[in-house]
Amino acid sequence: MSYVTHLECSATGEALPAGRLTGLSPAGAPMLVRYDLAAVAARVDRDALAARPATPWRFAELLPLADPADLVSLGETITPLIPLPTQGPGTLWVKDEGLLPTGSFKARGLALAVSMARALGARRLAIPTAGNAGAAMAAYAARAGLQADVFVPADAPRAATDEIRLFGAALHVVDGLIDACGRALAERTAAEGWFDLSTLKEPYRIEGKKTMGLELAQQLGWRLPDAIFYPTGGGTGLIGMAKAFAELKALGWVDGPPPRMVAVQTTGCAPVVRAHAAGRRTVEEPWQNVDTRVHGVRVPKPLGDRLILDGLYESDGFGWAVDDDAVDAARLACARAHGLHLSPEGAACLAAHDQARAAGRLAPDARAVVFNSASGLKSPLPAGV
Ligand SMILES: Cc1ncc(COP(=O)(O)O)c(C=O)c1O
Repeated sequence: MSYVTHLECSATGEALPAGRLTGLSPAGAPMLVRYDLAAVAARVDRDALAARPATPWRFAELLPLADPADLVSLGETITPLIPLPTQGPGTLWVKDEGLLPTGSFKARGLALAVSMARALGARRLAIPTAGNAGAAMAAYAARAGLQADVFVPADAPRAATDEIRLFGAALHVVDGLIDACGRALAERTAAEGWFDLSTLKEPYRIEGKKTMGLELAQQLGWRLPDAIFYPTGGGTGLIGMAKAFAELKALGWVDGPPPRMVAVQTTGCAPVVRAHAAGRRTVEEPWQNVDTRVHGVRVPKPLGDRLILDGLYESDGFGWAVDDDAVDAARLACARAHGLHLSPEGAACLAAHDQARAAGRLAPDARAVVFNSASGLKSPLPAGV
């Protein structure tokens, strides 16, 4: 059984029934899954969860799959929290998502989205991607026996495009960024009969990404960190984690303020950082002339801009942009000092953390978590190796 009560339009609050294939709401906004949290609180003992198998799916009552047999799995695991030293009394952990199937955190959202899509009757899946989401979808679609079409920018990292082809998906190469990929896909969706798994266009990828927040809370003994640095492209993870913390609070499983969510981008594509600095609720203008080697954040105008910015304002968070040279330097330094091969996106978060802490944006004793969203092996090596 599932504790899902309905889907809710994130713009208007309109309630729609769950249990059928769903895209955006009638108002054209992302849909959010709502649960009967009172029933979950009455039936689930938070401290008993540790005895369940060490997978993101141990939080089943807060996830939408009605029948566990519908899960399409490639052996997802709880990812480690690796402590790193800080200058001063603060605490820092890296949550290393590179250990998930296909080497990135995209596995969480796509395992669940593919499982739900198949359970609800989809047979042909399509996605626009910077690379990693497409690789994850291709893998889970292969596992599920579904057809996959993946739209990538012409300069997407080779590791991801190789993987997409390896898994047997149809690879469509588009001249432009992920937004152009999304448009190319949308033009053909109706004629091809694809189900579109674009970021936030269906409600279940966020639920999979939510497990990052649930897992983190449990790993830290239900004492949430003070700040989370997250590489923000489409923002599903940031939105998913903010939703996780709100649900945990409603359940009475955590208390105190939510972690300050820090949206990390690069100076060559920082639409969320700019909108937050200007006090805006949305990204009004797409970022022009995107120029960054950090592929995961190359999203000129995220569809979930309002939800991302809500997540920053509601947690007293902020945006932080680092330049590509700082990303390379952090990646190199972390590998050599700590034996940890971060993705460029993870290295951007580490650089942002170090800069923000040095600038006094965190309390000196703050407990912070940096997300390494993918294995470093998925991207070309930094300059200087
Ligand atoms: C390694 C990596 N980090 C971060 C991101 C951005 O993730 P999100 O869309 O959840 O903001 C991506 C997305 O492509 C990615 O591949």
